[in-house]
Amino acid sequence: MKDFQGKVAVITGAASGFGREFALLGAKLGMRLVLADVQREALDATAAELQAAGAEVLAQTCDVRKGEQVEALAQAAMQRFGAIHLVFNNAGVGAGGLVWESTQADWEWVLGVNLWGVIHGVRAFTPLMLEAAWKDPSYQGHLVNTASMAGLVNMPNMGIYNVSKHAVVSLTESLHQDLSLVTDQIGASVLCPFFVPTGINRSERNRPGELTDADQKETRAQMIGRIMSDKAVGSGKVTAAMVAQKVVDAVKGNQFYVYSHPHALSGVESRMQDLLNHRNPSDPFRARPEVGAELRRALREDDAATGAPKEAGR
Ligand SMILES: NC(=O)c1ccc[n+]([C@@H]2O[C@H](COP(=O)([O-])OP(=O)(O)OC[C@H]3O[C@@H](n4cnc5c(N)ncnc54)[C@H](O)[C@@H]3O)[C@@H](O)[C@H]2O)c1
Repeated sequence: MKDFQGKVAVITGAASGFGREFALLGAKLGMRLVLADVQREALDATAAELQAAGAEVLAQTCDVRKGEQVEALAQAAMQRFGAIHLVFNNAGVGAGGLVWESTQADWEWVLGVNLWGVIHGVRAFTPLMLEAAWKDPSYQGHLVNTASMAGLVNMPNMGIYNVSKHAVVSLTESLHQDLSLVTDQIGASVLCPFFVPTGINRSERNRPGELTDADQKETRAQMIGRIMSDKAVGSGKVTAAMVAQKVVDAVKGNQFYVYSHPHALSGVESRMQDLLNHRNPSDPFRARPEVGAELRRALREDDAATGAPKEAGR
């Protein structure tokens, strides 16, 4: 897809972070925008800002975990604009902790947003885009799904997130392959960012009540994961606006893998070498052994403050 002027983009997770920055950039490029998010106030604020800048905007609350809400979003977009050219399946939430500690509600929430949200987006939008392509040989479309570097490597203490993002990489590679069987008019990309300052480390703000257990105590590993992720996300030098520009460039260039930090790919290379050489997974902290040593020490030692043994999970 080369030309963005007048084209329609649907963006999930549009009220914050990458989604919001992509919407701002899309408006500058003359796109008509369909913004979806669960945060009504932040969504309205983003929509108002874009409208004030002259963009045509449809803002709709949508919980991407729910298939019927994503289908309703697709219908609303078609009704308002008559076509959909670019879909950014981007809404997502972060969570950490040792993989056996996550409760069923944790899994349902994280997989619900990060994986099912993208599944619903692919199901709801791709057939509409294919129909447009079959009707009009000049039609060009593109889907971008947000995964993560966590979809390409498996850092410890964030298994639930890793699982969701690996599945998004797999889904998007499959989408690319399947689209190429039936059309040359629609492309796909997978966005794999590393740590970038956004609202991701405050994801609990959007956790639905039915998947929140007020009595659920944060485990030691989850607390450590939260502190480490706050630090990593907060100190990221690449901005969400820079990532949004990379997404635009990737769509224009029909580039499949989109990275915010290409230098972080050394971890992917090691993983591939492990696979090819029948080696056990490499130490993810070999570049910074002191971080790994500190994490192991923190998880193995007794609670110095209380004298209680470390919490082994719930
Ligand atoms: N920021 C990073 O360091 C980083 C790194 C790798 C991947 N990612 C991924 O980037 C994507 C965007 O996240 P971000 O970093 O911009 O964070 P963010 O929190 O700033 O934005 C995410 C948006 O998704 C929305 N959202 C949450 N649950 C939703 C639901 N059920 N339905 C609809 N919208 C929902 C939130 O309200 C929020 O506006 C996510 O998929 C995230 O996993 C982020």
